[in-house]
Amino acid sequence: MYVYLNGDYIQHEDALIHVEDRGFNFADSLYEVTRIYNGRPFGLNRHISRMEQGAELLQLEYGITTEQFTGIVDELIRINETPEASLYIQVSRGVAPRDHPFPPEPTEPTVFVMVKPHEPVPWEERLQGKTAITEPDMRYQLCAVKTTALLPNVLACQKARSAGAFEAILVRDGMVTEGSNTNIYIVNEGTIRTFPLVNILPGITRSYVQEICEHAGIPFLEEAFSVGAMLEADEVFLTGSVAEIFPVVQIDDQHISQGAGVITRQLIERYAEAVTARCGQYTPER
Ligand code: PDD
Repeated sequence: MYVYLNGDYIQHEDALIHVEDRGFNFADSLYEVTRIYNGRPFGLNRHISRMEQGAELLQLEYGITTEQFTGIVDELIRINETPEASLYIQVSRGVAPRDHPFPPEPTEPTVFVMVKPHEPVPWEERLQGKTAITEPDMRYQLCAVKTTALLPNVLACQKARSAGAFEAILVRDGMVTEGSNTNIYIVNEGTIRTFPLVNILPGITRSYVQEICEHAGIPFLEEAFSVGAMLEADEVFLTGSVAEIFPVVQIDDQHISQGAGVITRQLIERYAEAVTARCGQYTPER
């Protein structure tokens, strides 16, 4: 497989990062992940625009335009022949002697892009849903910025996996914020609730789900909810660019009453339609 690193298309095993890359030393770097369907990246403009906003906040100038990223991604899909894939982009503040403040100019940013084959999840498997645990949200004040500083997310997700669950649902001051790598929603009597965009990641899939709800007339409220409310909800679901939409059917030891309920199923169908509209027919095995 070929990847893109700092201007070159090179073999995956030859793509090496310097030991004093600020991404490695300080997690001084941003990343994005999305899916490629039928050779077309889904929501790439939204992902790049989120990265641009993060870069502005971090004053990290990586100097690659949306058009250039699109070209790089298209080229990777072409040379790797990966129409069904995940896409990973990472930019860091570059290589400089290790020192906390920003490095002196000119320090070239590191830019890395990778695609990896990824098959759609068969319909039946998706509707079986996922299990989750709850975990304290131990993160900092920059959760809205998609940096590679993911240690609390990694630890929470590992705790879930060690417990045989898929996702760790993070809890801050008694309220559910998001998952370790997904956004989380509850459904009650047809109304969806999810944490407002206050120090959580503004998920791109979340933005699509919100638009789908607007079109379908499904009430979508950005309102915090407690762990207790989540455990008592009719339905719970999670979203992420690679996971897409999954019902959450059990949390800790509690079964969610309607499991893969009507609203979640409807959103899964509509999300597949949104993918089809932008990338061509989306055909997970039915
Ligand atoms: N994770 N919340 C967190 C903390 C995330 O890391 C992610 C994405 C999401 C969902 O965002 P989106 O819909 O834009 O993918 C929510 C990616 C997939 C990852 O870290 O691999």
